[in-house]
Amino acid sequence: MRVLGIETSCDETGVAVYATNGGLLAHTLYSQVELHACYGGVVPELASRDHIRKLLPLIHEVMAEAGLGATDIDGVAYTAGPGLVGALLVGALTGRCLAWSWGVPAVAVHHMEGHLLAPMLEPEPPEFPLIALLVSGGHCLLVEVDGVGRYRVLGESIDDAVGEAFDKTAKLLGLPYPGGPALAALARQGDPERFTFPRPMTNRPGLDFSFSGLKTFALNTWRTSAQDDRARADIARAFEEAVADTLAIKCRRAVRQTGIRRLVIAGGVGANQRLRARLGDLMKAQGGSIFYPRPEFCTDNGAMIAYAGYQRLRAGQSAPLSVSVKPRWSLDELQPADS
Ligand code: KG4
Ligand code: ZN
Repeated sequence: MRVLGIETSCDETGVAVYATNGGLLAHTLYSQVELHACYGGVVPELASRDHIRKLLPLIHEVMAEAGLGATDIDGVAYTAGPGLVGALLVGALTGRCLAWSWGVPAVAVHHMEGHLLAPMLEPEPPEFPLIALLVSGGHCLLVEVDGVGRYRVLGESIDDAVGEAFDKTAKLLGLPYPGGPALAALARQGDPERFTFPRPMTNRPGLDFSFSGLKTFALNTWRTSAQDDRARADIARAFEEAVADTLAIKCRRAVRQTGIRRLVIAGGVGANQRLRARLGDLMKAQGGSIFYPRPEFCTDNGAMIAYAGYQRLRAGQSAPLSVSVKPRWSLDELQPADS
C-alpha cells in the first residue's frame, strides 16, 4: 500500500509518500516563514493562498521523486485539523479530490496524531504503550498512548502552548519570527545563574501546564534590565531553563503515575536541544528510554501525515466524500485504528 500525505494546517506545505514496502519513499516541505516574517506571525489568509500556489507542484515533485504515477497511489491522507480553517481546507479539498479522481480512499488525519506518530519513522521506533509529550506552536499535551488512536490526554496547557510562549517571549526580546529557534540559539550564550524564572504549576499536583505567566515574567525582567544584548541572552537562557525544567517535572510525574517508561517528545519545540537533553537525563534516571523524530520531522511535515494516514487506511478507515475540517479537535475524540 502506498499513501500520499498532505499537510497544510498552518504555514508549512508538506507532502510525502509512505509505503508498506520501503517506508518513506519521498517527502518535501515548503515553509512560508519568509512570507509571514514581516508581520511577526502567521497571517491566515496569506497562508491559505500560498498553500494553493504550492501544493500541486509539490505533489508532482514528490511523486516524481518516488518514481510513482497516479495509478500507484492506494490512498490519500490529509490533515483535517486542528489548525487554520482556510489552510486546512486547501489540503483537505485537494487531497479528497485527488483520491476521488484516482478512485482510492482518502483519510482525514489529526495533526497532533501525526506529530505523535512521527518517531515511528525513525530506524528504532518505540513500542506501545508510551507517554507522548506533544509540544508545538498550538499545543502542549501529555498523552498516554496504548496504540494508534488509543489516546488518553493526561494533561494540557490551560493557556499558551509552549511554542507560542517561546514565540511571544522571542518577540518581546526583539528577536525575528519564528521566535523559538532564534530564542534557543541566543540562550546558548546566556548566563543560567543571572535570572531565575518560575516553574509554573509544579507546586501543585496534576499534569496540566500554564505558560502565559512565563512570558509576562520575561517582559517584566526585560523592562527592569539594561535592555542590552547581555540581558537579552540571559533572559532567553532563564526562560528556556524554566520551560525545560517544568516539562521535565511533569514528565517525571506522568512516568510515575502510569508506570510507563517510554517517552516520546514531538512537535516543533521537540527540536529544542536543551529540552531533549533534560528529558534524556530524566528518562535515564527513571530507567526508561526516550524517542523523538529527526529534527526536520519535529516541526510540521507531510511525512508524519502520510504515516498516520497509512496506519488508518491499512485498518480499513476512510473519510466520506464530503469534506469537513476541524480547526479545533481533541485527540481524545479519535477512534482506535484497530476498532
Ligand atoms: O509543530 P510546529 O511546526 O507547528 C505547530 O503545529 O504549531 O511547531 C512550531 C513551534 C513554533 O512555536 C516554533 O517557535 C517552535 O515550534 N520551535 C522551537 C524550536 N524549533 C521550533 N521552539 C524552541 N526551540 C526550538 N529549537
Ligand atoms: Zn504541528
